[in-house]
Amino acid sequence: MKPEAHPAEAAAPERDVAVCVSPITGGRVPQHVAVIMDGNGRWATQRGLRRAAGHRAGTENIRRVIERFADHGIGYLTLYAFSTENWTRPQREVRMLIRLLRFFLRREVDNLHKNGIQLHLLGHLETLPDWLQKQVAAAIELTSGNTGMVLNICFSYGGRDDILLAVQKLVRDEVPASQITEEMISRYLYTGGMPDPDLLIRTGGDQRISNFLLWQAAYAELYFTDTYWPDFGREDIDMALAEYGRRKRKFGGLLPEDAAAFED
Ligand code: FPP
Repeated sequence: MKPEAHPAEAAAPERDVAVCVSPITGGRVPQHVAVIMDGNGRWATQRGLRRAAGHRAGTENIRRVIERFADHGIGYLTLYAFSTENWTRPQREVRMLIRLLRFFLRREVDNLHKNGIQLHLLGHLETLPDWLQKQVAAAIELTSGNTGMVLNICFSYGGRDDILLAVQKLVRDEVPASQITEEMISRYLYTGGMPDPDLLIRTGGDQRISNFLLWQAAYAELYFTDTYWPDFGREDIDMALAEYGRRKRKFGGLLPEDAAAFED
């Protein structure tokens, strides 16, 4: 006889994860990849260059990374470009990162559009100068009808802040506490309507999440590499995806073959 369900079972939502296959390798790949682009400064220092050169090289690298993930059929790519904490960096570096966002948009938007990529910027865009807000809005508008890969650039973004804003919106919308569900919170986040990341990559050797997609990455596979971001290229991407293909995802449950041992 099947035992009665534990009341907590109701709180465990079904994880409906799309199965995606790489047209390059035929292997299982994530639908959504999130990346913490770390190591620009050390990349530059190692070469006797200033940190700014590292950030420039890191920005240049974004194009080849987008291309390789798109070739693998990745549906969503989310890049952590500037965190809510990065505002505490020296003013010169902050200004440079803001200028790099302008540079990236100027140089890449037409190319993104041509390749059917839909661009989103997640974060406190109101903290950016007016001229940049306009440029961001124009880029989002231009690519909004595209149906290829979704590219999220997180700028002035924080995971805790994302959750805080969602809670504030729920309260403002007067949603009764008893009606708040996990799905509803997900919908109120910056990534509302998008699938959660399946794979979270951090370059640069450190092994932490650094306030990135805290809610969304609850069940993401984590992948850390020592490669500095400006050097993170095709082979590194292929290795990360191959490693993902080998991971067994259980979402707190059991794989069918393991669960079978408990069947009567
Ligand atoms: C971390 O490297 C990287 C950042 C804080 C910024 C990431 C930004 C880019 C790759 C370029 C900007 C892109 C856009 C689209 C605006 P770090 O400086 O912490 O490196 P370190 O740990 O070696 O010092």
